[in-house]
Amino acid sequence: MKATLEEIGRASLEAIKNAAEASELEALRVRYLGKKGELTAVLKSMGSFTPEERPVIGQLANDIRMKIESAITDRAEEMKSAMMENKLHSETIDVTIPGVKVRVGRSHPLTAVLDETIDIFIGMGFRVAEGPEIEYSDYNFTRLNTPVGHPARDRQDTFYFTDDDSVCLRTQTSPVQIRVMENSSPPIRIVSPGKVFRKDEVDATHSPVFHQIEALVVDKGITMGDLKGTLNTLVHRLYGPDASTRFRPHHFPFTEPSCEVDVQCFECRGKGCRICKGEGWIELLGAGMVHPDVLAGCGIDPDIYSGFAFGVGVERLTMRRFNISDMRLLYENDMRFLSQF
Ligand code: DAH
Repeated sequence: MKATLEEIGRASLEAIKNAAEASELEALRVRYLGKKGELTAVLKSMGSFTPEERPVIGQLANDIRMKIESAITDRAEEMKSAMMENKLHSETIDVTIPGVKVRVGRSHPLTAVLDETIDIFIGMGFRVAEGPEIEYSDYNFTRLNTPVGHPARDRQDTFYFTDDDSVCLRTQTSPVQIRVMENSSPPIRIVSPGKVFRKDEVDATHSPVFHQIEALVVDKGITMGDLKGTLNTLVHRLYGPDASTRFRPHHFPFTEPSCEVDVQCFECRGKGCRICKGEGWIELLGAGMVHPDVLAGCGIDPDIYSGFAFGVGVERLTMRRFNISDMRLLYENDMRFLSQF
């Protein structure tokens, strides 16, 4: 019996040492230590040994059992670390392989100038008010003192949605003035950025879709001086402290008096050159004191309140800012152009 036990011990330890997989180890455990296992069978047959033999055989069988158990545990550990080693090896990352370059974008020049302009106004206590791009003709024209048949309507011809021409694509951001004045009372200090639409042919300075920012201030005692101060602040912040402005009388139906504001040409400093077409000045925007009829039409008493307003093309601001000579470049999304800003 002793020899049988020793043979079981030898064979099982050998097999465990050579086991290559966890399932094989489990099979060996069952084969030797399981209920019907070889070693278990020996222990079960203890009754057939003499009283002298029993403790010796029992002791030996127990020793072998413990050896098998610890051999299985050790081999399982070995397998586990070999597997881990393998995994670490196969999943090694080669940090020397060049990475995939992530291209970081940036704001489009139009967006950058628009954001900067809005920031400047917010710094002066304005808030942003938005209006719809599809607008009532009433807001876009009539209530801005531009009734049906007024020649200014022809200059800003647009696209209409209804047979009676009562709904259109807005031609200017000025209708937002009406919407704001209708729904709030002075003091009012808003800027309104957005897209506007006109039936214009595309060329270096025109596009049927472009962007404007409207500004409106209504309060007691607002004068042309406030308008000049605000616009000069905008121009200095956008174009530097040396930029000078010129206020030229003009006509807009919804302001009285009205003016156009020019900046001195950056290229020739007023002497006249190709960029300013010999003028020395470059037109920037339209402005004026809100017409008393426009205020009254929104329920604001023009005897108590006054206001100023202006509307500026974002494309124009951007082109002046970066010396861009053709507006179409702003819409073509050519990276060779855009990556310069
Ligand atoms: N809406 C005018 C345009 O598109 C620009 C303008 C002029 C806006 C005078 C104003 C203003 O608010 O007071 O040509």
